Amino acid sequence: MSTPDVGIDQLGIYIPRHALPLDRLAAARGVPPEKISIGLGALAMAVPAPWEDTVTLGANAAARALRAGGIAPDEIGLLVVGTETAVDHAKPASIFLHELLGLTSRCRTFELKHACYGGTAGVMMAVDWVRSGAARGRKALVVATDIARYDLGSSAEFTQGAGAAALVIGAAPRLLTLDAGTGVYASNVWDFWRPLDRREALVDGKFSVDCYLDALAGALADYRGDAAPVVDRMAALLYHTPFPKMAQKAHRRLVERERPDLDGDAQTALFERSYAELVEPWLWLARQAGNTYTASLYLGLAWLAEQRGAALEGHDVGLFSYGSGCQGEFFSGRFAAGSGAHAGRIGAAALLDDRVLLDVAQYEDFVREGARGGTPSVDDGALCHLTGVRDHKRHYGRQEAIA
Ligand code: HMG
Repeated sequence: MSTPDVGIDQLGIYIPRHALPLDRLAAARGVPPEKISIGLGALAMAVPAPWEDTVTLGANAAARALRAGGIAPDEIGLLVVGTETAVDHAKPASIFLHELLGLTSRCRTFELKHACYGGTAGVMMAVDWVRSGAARGRKALVVATDIARYDLGSSAEFTQGAGAAALVIGAAPRLLTLDAGTGVYASNVWDFWRPLDRREALVDGKFSVDCYLDALAGALADYRGDAAPVVDRMAALLYHTPFPKMAQKAHRRLVERERPDLDGDAQTALFERSYAELVEPWLWLARQAGNTYTASLYLGLAWLAEQRGAALEGHDVGLFSYGSGCQGEFFSGRFAAGSGAHAGRIGAAALLDDRVLLDVAQYEDFVREGARGGTPSVDDGALCHLTGVRDHKRHYGRQEAIA
């Protein structure tokens, strides 16, 4: 029996309108700016305002995906939110999105977590739900949404960020068909974690880089088997990007693992050429928005799809998802005929227009205030905002119906 084509029908992303240029943060913390712009490859990070949280970021990304794909709320039968920065220990972010998006009650919704891997876990589960026939013709909506926070003044502070991606998963997808075979790697490590009473994550930074690279090697080996090197057959390679230099390190590890037969110079030449062609051009949103945890990989996909458009149709892409703790998954897909038109509706580049650039004092004020709700001081074109938190209950305001 042949496996039906299942994959990403439409993609939507959202990034907060406020951003902190990292040369300003470097100056304030007494760090050479090149350490951040070159050493980490990061230029700016998105900063959520007090009227934004993981629910509003996710709902805004999802509304954009549904609108761009012309998908009605009653077509969605499964809504999964992957996040590691949830707004409540019990009540899932998904149920807020369910209401904000106007989905029908005939829908299964829940939140899931595995650090930055949570979004991909949702994608894999949604794909299986569609492939199994349980979807009965409906689509799944998978939302990856996060706000990355570390202690002020820590070296990890430069790798914060915020953003969300929403993926509509269905049969005969109009954007990207996902391959059934994926490669996985799991191992219990303490590289990054966030105890229940903390808003800021704890991290063993350099160890986390090693854990990521081990997970990539393991997942790649599980994915590839005896097949040809992915570096020779993909039109693009996307990596989870906690900071842009990590994708460069990851790609070097991939080339080393795939082409051990090459001598040092030949391996370096292959790495440099393939990094410039297959990886680097798709890191722009990560350079500008910072680490978006579960959404990071899919921001890269959005940028790739939008920038390359119709030129990608019929071509393959490889994706590596990593979540600390840890879980890695390497998977792949093929851009559908006509996908260029859908990619053109993502609107990723426009999210970087008219950003409000903060100084360090304003950024620290936003961090101290946290998500308390309020009225936006800028027109961010968003579907919804957090209006307030009263009696430990969160209240959201919606601009308009999405469908
Ligand atoms: P650090 O202390 O800034 O590291 O922490 P460093 O001193 O090694 O410097 C970083 C790079 O800058 C080095 O380059 C230096 O040489 C270079 P590299 O050797 O790595 O190629 N450098 C300079 N370059 C130019 N000019 C200069 C200069 N000075 C130094 N003057 C670290 C960096 C990433 C560890 C820290 O920011 C951190 O802990 N971040 C958070 C953890 C993280 O992002 N880990 C990534 C892997 S784990 C992951 O991806 C999962 C995650 O997303 C969470 C989840 O799954 O939920 C984090």
